Amino acid sequence: KERKNNKNVSLFFLGHIFICLNGIYYSMQTKMQIAIDGPASAGKSTVAKLVAKKLNYIYCDTGAMYRATTWKALQMGVSLDDDQALGKMLETMELSFKPNEPEQLVFVDGTDVTTAIRLPEITNNVSLVSAQPSVRKNLTERQQQIASEGGIVMDGRDIGTTVLPNAQVKIFLVASVHERALRRFKENQAKGIDTPLAKLEAEIKARDYKDSHREVSPLIKADDAILLDTTSLDIAQATDEIMKIVKNTEK
Ligand code: DC
Repeated sequence: KERKNNKNVSLFFLGHIFICLNGIYYSMQTKMQIAIDGPASAGKSTVAKLVAKKLNYIYCDTGAMYRATTWKALQMGVSLDDDQALGKMLETMELSFKPNEPEQLVFVDGTDVTTAIRLPEITNNVSLVSAQPSVRKNLTERQQQIASEGGIVMDGRDIGTTVLPNAQVKIFLVASVHERALRRFKENQAKGIDTPLAKLEAEIKARDYKDSHREVSPLIKADDAILLDTTSLDIAQATDEIMKIVKNTEK
């Protein structure tokens, strides 16, 4: 009986599960974890959302989780570098996403913070909060929980290295500082915000530096991540490149 049972094994490999029943192998596709990391304004969230839509997967914007934590700390008057106090605050903080067009809604303790977390006050303070070890620990656990069933496209800075080290697809998305600042400049202009291009370049460089030099989970390409430079690619081309990588992984 034992030998017979031993024959019925399951093997997980990339996006497939191979089930052997009485000597016959069956292959079934499982839902993958797709990690997209990279520096600020490289286009991660735009392409991650499109890839998720094409695959009918869930999209998770982990940057929004660090932004939401920063929002709550500012509301509560918690010092942004007080690791212990931030950790305590997170123990009871409810954080949820709700699907919506054109962007997902983000809620903190039932309050819609979708717009508030994109304001400059948050953008300029989020690197400090996201460098605190207890913040990273708490949010990493939440992200792992969200991704546990697969069928997820998650974007951030440390997804391929720390949050989902076994993700079947890992992409590291980059673009030149000038190109990223230019994209932000055009987005701002469309919203009626007038920030000089040189200032945007300086802000992007500063955020790159902080994100790559923090002690816990710095922004770094995972060894097994595929580098994709989008400097001369538009959104559709970058999305197509990632879809090709996903299809190759499924084979
Ligand atoms: O992607 P974004 O600009 O919304 O991210 C906001 C900040 O959150 C960014 O400066 C770095 C931090 N972050 C992080 O440390 N780890 C992640 N997985 C995602 C974002």
